[in-house]
Amino acid sequence: MPHSPHLSETLPGHPHIARHGATLMVESLPAAELAARFGTPLYVYSRAAIEASARAYADAVGDRPVALRYAVKANSSLAILQLLSRLGWGFDVVSGGELARVLAAGADASQVVFSGVGKTDAEIEAALRAGVQCINVESLSELQRLNRVAGSTGVPAPVSLRINPDVDPRTHPYISTGLRNNKFGIAQSQARQAYAQCMQLPHLRVLGIDVHIGSQITEIGPYLDALDRVLDLVHDIERDGVRLHHLDLGGGLGIRYADETPPSPAQWIDALCERLQARGQGHRQVLLEPGRSVVGNAGVLLCEVVTLKSSLEKHFAVVDAAMNDLMRPALYEAWQRIEPAQARDGAQAMHYDVVGPVCESGDWLGRDRQLDLREGDVLAILSAGAYGMAMASNYNTRPRAAEVLVDGGKAQLIRERESLQDLLRGEHPLQD
Ligand code: LLP
Repeated sequence: MPHSPHLSETLPGHPHIARHGATLMVESLPAAELAARFGTPLYVYSRAAIEASARAYADAVGDRPVALRYAVKANSSLAILQLLSRLGWGFDVVSGGELARVLAAGADASQVVFSGVGKTDAEIEAALRAGVQCINVESLSELQRLNRVAGSTGVPAPVSLRINPDVDPRTHPYISTGLRNNKFGIAQSQARQAYAQCMQLPHLRVLGIDVHIGSQITEIGPYLDALDRVLDLVHDIERDGVRLHHLDLGGGLGIRYADETPPSPAQWIDALCERLQARGQGHRQVLLEPGRSVVGNAGVLLCEVVTLKSSLEKHFAVVDAAMNDLMRPALYEAWQRIEPAQARDGAQAMHYDVVGPVCESGDWLGRDRQLDLREGDVLAILSAGAYGMAMASNYNTRPRAAEVLVDGGKAQLIRERESLQDLLRGEHPLQD
């Protein structure tokens, strides 16, 4: 299909990534120029897009008692954490490493919650010493551990218990976390006993209750079901004499990868607040931990076509990004839109599997995509701002990609491409 050079078309769900005629732009910069300047594979983020989604959340909250805690696991690059910290966000971390990152980014520890199903003594101690807002505890055994570490550290531990509400978030099975057979949280039926135990442990201070049912959730219903179960429990637990200061309702709001129509942050927050009101709980302090919906559609992964090849059955575009750079397709069979940085006229368009050079048949980035390609072309994989770089590995001894933040017509390198020396650092050759 011929492209008009004057046509400007935003890509669905990507307000700051647009096609100007044949040229794919990130804010005011052509993607192909960024690839030429910084090399590929390259993660590129739009600052305006991140700020817009952060603002959409803040506007949705308004003056209601809802505090935003960005889930660092979605994208933990320092510059992005700094951006959100400056906008007043707190953070949800799940490891000592993520805690160190948010502190390095200038976060206020009293706005940091520490989640995760297997915190070590050292991680708990670091969180207590930093003065985090709350530790979300996932099991009875972890309660004992936390009490012991808080005792030896001399810092009482602020605690929420993560409840497993047994709600189906209707998302990919690998990213549902609130079903009873998932490893997460404390079963609802054990919750009262767990709070009773908390009250007996001298170094714990009960603050709240926590729930997180999954990720890439595209409907409100499962959230309301989970909230109802939490509120039932809150009622019982407070009747037992425990005062709960906040409800942490987790993250999980989906984004548009293809044709999904997830609720907006405002629809999500309004629905939660309305249900709280309806149940006479509108005064409760609520924490939310969104990750993907803050950064997901603010980023693209740029890669270059290395080789075009055809088997008897298929056409392959082998690119210089791979499953180690973007794991979601290999891990979840996730679909992410793929766009040429510079569109051709379509005369030689074919159905390609876009694959990486890693030695696994699971190493694909997109299947059966109609593209008009030549070797050397640059492709953009969209919706790569969340769970892209954060999940990258060095498999096949591939250095991790560089990251760039675009702000209008400026591009800043926010993470250097890893070097081969980086990869060999810390390894010791055989002594004899
Ligand atoms: N809070 C907790 C306790 C979580 O476990 C998660 C995500 C979040 C918040 C943030 O959820 P979000 O708003 O980003 O959906 N790698 C997968 C997603 C894993 C999500 C794990 N937990 C993917 O690429 O789809």
